[in-house]
Amino acid sequence: MSTQTIAKPLRGRVAVVTGASSGIGEASAEKLAALGAHVVVLARRAERLTDLVARIEKDGGSATAIAADVTDKAALQEAADRVAAELGGADLLFNNAGVMLPAPVEELAADQWQQQIDLNITGLMNTIGAFTPQLVEAAGVRGVADLINTSSIAAQNIFPNFAVYSATKAYVTHLSRHLRAELGPKNVRVAAIEPGIVGTELQSHVTDRGALDWLEGSKETMEWLTPQDVAETIGFLATLPPRVNLQQVTIMPTAQAS
Ligand SMILES: NC(=O)c1ccc[n+]([C@@H]2O[C@H](COP(=O)([O-])OP(=O)(O)OC[C@H]3O[C@@H](n4cnc5c(N)ncnc54)[C@H](OP(=O)(O)O)[C@@H]3O)[C@@H](O)[C@H]2O)c1
Repeated sequence: MSTQTIAKPLRGRVAVVTGASSGIGEASAEKLAALGAHVVVLARRAERLTDLVARIEKDGGSATAIAADVTDKAALQEAADRVAAELGGADLLFNNAGVMLPAPVEELAADQWQQQIDLNITGLMNTIGAFTPQLVEAAGVRGVADLINTSSIAAQNIFPNFAVYSATKAYVTHLSRHLRAELGPKNVRVAAIEPGIVGTELQSHVTDRGALDWLEGSKETMEWLTPQDVAETIGFLATLPPRVNLQQVTIMPTAQAS
């Protein structure tokens, strides 16, 4: 194997990353580009994406920005059509856009329930619907493709006041296990990553006082994960030999108990 192949194991691959304008998505896009993939960065904030593409290119990588709202099914199909036309299709999808809006259920914050369901479930499905044909086609040609969905430890653990968010993430994990069984025989690896607390913009959208206090308090008792910690794992999953599929990966801050 040449040194170049070892240094850039994802050379020739096309990775689509949703939620790439900040946090875990942004760091993972940078990691995948550093490993040699052409990265398509997708989120709503166009300017953040343009800056990210410039940074990736400055570091010797290649990337394309697509500003789109994943809750808009037609916009996602348009994005997928563009990836097919300009780049020959995606062989890695990091399906990562999401929002967390905890609140006691008795507050009846129905708009926030809907926002989480629309993004974490419907947006996730719009992205899977738009890109799965490309993943299956790519796997048929090159022998491997990857669908990596961002779930959370909330999919497994019980956090009072996080019921709707946690339920959306339980959906992501269970869906991923089913899709792995369905798409694995077609050489598409499917993984769910389940991080504990990561310092990103996710916490900045929280409006519930109790949840904010809990998050603030947790900072004093533990060191949160960084987006780069999760990005390393995404890079690891994508560079494993094609026969290896890590189905579910839990990534905890060392000092986070549950
Ligand atoms: N941080 C944590 O502690 C943690 C733990 C476990 C799991 N997670 C999960 O990790 C994923 C990434 O979150 P993060 O922590 O990196 O938070 P973040 O910094 O808030 O990132 C969320 C990303 O999603 C994008 N996004 C939001 N709404 C969108 C929409 N309608 N269409 C397209 N993109 C949209 C945002 O960009 P725009 O606003 O530009 O669209 C942003 O890039 C989420 O699924 C989250 O649930 C996070």
